[in-house]
Amino acid sequence: MKVILLGPPGAGKGTQARQLAEKYGIPQLSTGDMLRAALKAGTEVGLKAKAAMEAGALVPDEVVVGIIADRIQEADCQKGFILDGFPRTVPQAQELDKMLAGRGMAIDHVIDIACDAEALVARITGRSTCSKCGEGYHAQHKKPAQAGICDKCGGTLTQRADDNEETVRNRLTVYEAQTAPVIGFYRPGGVFKEVDGMADMGAVFKALCAILG
Ligand code: AP5
Ligand code: MG
Repeated sequence: MKVILLGPPGAGKGTQARQLAEKYGIPQLSTGDMLRAALKAGTEVGLKAKAAMEAGALVPDEVVVGIIADRIQEADCQKGFILDGFPRTVPQAQELDKMLAGRGMAIDHVIDIACDAEALVARITGRSTCSKCGEGYHAQHKKPAQAGICDKCGGTLTQRADDNEETVRNRLTVYEAQTAPVIGFYRPGGVFKEVDGMADMGAVFKALCAILG
């Protein structure tokens, strides 16, 4: 099963993709996570992405398309995958179609997690993530039992460098201008659906599972 989760920054793509990956036994492919890992490791890709990510702008299409093209060739993607944060421009969507067609594959589901922009600023600025296992938390909606410590693995919780209000507002503007048109790209194909991303996390997960079966 090949799934794309669309949605603005803070919609819950990462939160839901992690749970779906576990339930369906297929990997979560988050270009944001991959770029942050590249940045941390100091690779060439990381260096190319750094300035754009810090400003809340998009990393060039060819960089992220290259990352995904390499990743989907790995054995664990054979049964399918959940794309989180990719494609984020119409040219990325077109390249994805081409690379899948070349392998006799196609996307089965494109699901937009629809949200209200103002709520997203609060969601993102309240977010923290475990530096060890990647579990996500929120200052209001999903508090860890012990402040700053991951419930699952005991790792330290950290905040993303681009999760400050100014950068978040820029990411939302960039989403409207460059990513929202991706919905129009998929809508006519019959694979597109929308879920209400303003519902609580459990309800969003249920709605996604109802679509995926
Ligand atoms: P990326 O890492 O993809 O960030 P993003 O799209 O801005 O999305 P987020 O990760 O902020 O939000 P999310 O939807 O995953 O929400 P989450 O589940 O964490 O990209 C970062 C940067 O990398 C980009 O700005 C760009 O520079 C670059 N990049 C990445 N991919 C690229 C591409 N394809 N092309 C070009 N550049 C690219 O949830 C947020 C918070 O809300 C959490 O705290 C969570 O606990 C909470 N929450 C989740 N769901 C709910 C709910 N239903 N109710 C209440 N709270 C909730
Ligand atoms: Mg994310």
